[in-house]
Amino acid sequence: MCGIIGAVSQRDIAKILLEGLRSLEYRGYDSSGLMVVNSTGQASRLRCVGKVNNLACAAEHATLSGETGIAHTRWATHGKPAESNAHPHISTNIAVVHNGIIENHELLRDQLQGRGYTFYSETDTEVVAHLVHWEQQRGGSLLSVVQRVIPDLRGTYGMVILDTDSPDRLIAARSGSPLVIGCGVGENFIVSDPMALLSVTRRFIYLEEGDVAQISCYGIKIIDRCNNIAQRCEVELDTHYDVVNKGVYSHYMQKEIYEQPSVLKNTLSGRHNNSFVELHELNEKAYSLLKKVEHIQIVACGTSYHSGMVARYWLESLAKMPCDTEIASEFRYRKSVVRENSLFVTLSQSGETADTLAALRLSKRLGYLGSLSICNVASSSLVRESDFSLMMKAGIEVGVASTKSFTAQLVILLILVAKISSLKDATSQVEREIVNALQILPSCIEKVLLQDQLIAQLAQDFSNKNHALFLGRGDQYPIAMEGALKLKEISYIHAEAYAAGELKHGPLALIDSDMPVIVVAPQNALLDKLKSNIEEIRARGGLLYIFTDAISSFVGSDNIYIVPLPHIPEVLAPIVYIVPLQLLSYYIALIRGTDLDKPRNLAKSVTVE
Ligand code: M6R
Repeated sequence: MCGIIGAVSQRDIAKILLEGLRSLEYRGYDSSGLMVVNSTGQASRLRCVGKVNNLACAAEHATLSGETGIAHTRWATHGKPAESNAHPHISTNIAVVHNGIIENHELLRDQLQGRGYTFYSETDTEVVAHLVHWEQQRGGSLLSVVQRVIPDLRGTYGMVILDTDSPDRLIAARSGSPLVIGCGVGENFIVSDPMALLSVTRRFIYLEEGDVAQISCYGIKIIDRCNNIAQRCEVELDTHYDVVNKGVYSHYMQKEIYEQPSVLKNTLSGRHNNSFVELHELNEKAYSLLKKVEHIQIVACGTSYHSGMVARYWLESLAKMPCDTEIASEFRYRKSVVRENSLFVTLSQSGETADTLAALRLSKRLGYLGSLSICNVASSSLVRESDFSLMMKAGIEVGVASTKSFTAQLVILLILVAKISSLKDATSQVEREIVNALQILPSCIEKVLLQDQLIAQLAQDFSNKNHALFLGRGDQYPIAMEGALKLKEISYIHAEAYAAGELKHGPLALIDSDMPVIVVAPQNALLDKLKSNIEEIRARGGLLYIFTDAISSFVGSDNIYIVPLPHIPEVLAPIVYIVPLQLLSYYIALIRGTDLDKPRNLAKSVTVE
């Protein structure tokens, strides 16, 4: 993970770097640091443990100024969050910031120690600083030195190298971790995510895998992986970085839960006409490809994987389209068999998740018909590298726990299911039924949000539990999984999800009055089966929280709490039933006093494997 930013300018860039780090904080927030150097070669480095704000406060009391600099916000991979492990790492005149993992760092460390280098951190990155310093003694420009070092590195990197003896340039190298050059007038920048530079430029050049670039005030030179000078086109971004504030809400997560009715209206807008789906983003080529598709392979991580699991139920039951859904980190290292005429679909809020991107790249070598990404960030690597994309239009999601991006992803998937169904069978009513249902979705979620206070009350007793079980059947099983993920990531309560029918095969042994069991129980064909599972828990003194619109099917009591939800079209249930679980986790975490928007050990975008 980690966010990187660098600048070569004729003005003082310390503030630009600090502001950039704030927007990159979603990539990691356990420590941060920056180094600036002025034209006389005077350098200052500042590093702090904790959020970027700690660095910004420390910077107010330090004299930091310089026209060239690099900065970094860290998500620890090698070495605990500590000032000594925060970037930039230095070796005499060489400073490095790095995103990724140098897998052969132990071997390199031994070699460099043998050459007399002392290590001051536990990180894998520090080897790069010493290697560049060592290689520089053999002569050549900084660019050629970095090119000579790269073949020694195994693993992934997006890195920027600064030489305080030549502060008129920065060298950047990309392999496995994105880097983008920001083009200015008399100044240039390098960054992990262009959003962090929108206050200074809108013109960007995306580095490609294996590129090494030299950036100075007046020039950009890019060498590709075959050692040729590369011409990469400049892209003008028209996206606006809306500075998001919490408004009346206490946390971004709460705001993002509450935003869902309007976000989903936005996701739907322009994508249907009366009862028919309209996907103008897909061109003729995409449509003719969709007509050929006989199987869909979905790959994603975390919350996005859960929406992929729901999509599998939908695709097979509604569009009769065979589908498999797999976790990206598993898919990428498994020798899978590609089905005939299979479409590769990736789901990702950020579009920068390392495992999902790696899976997409692998799919291109495996003979899929093509690739479609469903994503929230139009400029992301996933969108740029996919054949076709559908944007979630959920707006920036700040909370590390995905909420609105999950429901927006599900809406797009349901639209896709409707489209595929009508392409396969023009007489099918599925498209019409889905589109009609989707039109009332925002108001259904508004009704669910009215249960806020009841859920907040239930959170009181729940908040002192140490474990929880989430149960669902059919397309609610992934919702149980997503509910459990929400609870663990923000409240730190251990939670597991089971397909309710699995309970008797082991987990039932866990049931006692101290184990809350959350059941998502919409009125559907599986409700009677689910009721039997609930009885099994009740008979063993379990503590039940049942979210349902089948109110008359359940009787509340001392250890059975019912959360009544509105009647909804069955197809909408996965989208609607996650909302009360998001609220439950939110209120439990609130009582437990955790850092809700930035839970410990996590990052919004997981850019390392
Ligand atoms: O950006 P992506 O959707 O690819 O991210 C995948 C996961 O890292 C993400 O969904 C993660 O699980 C969330 N923090 C869960 O709330």
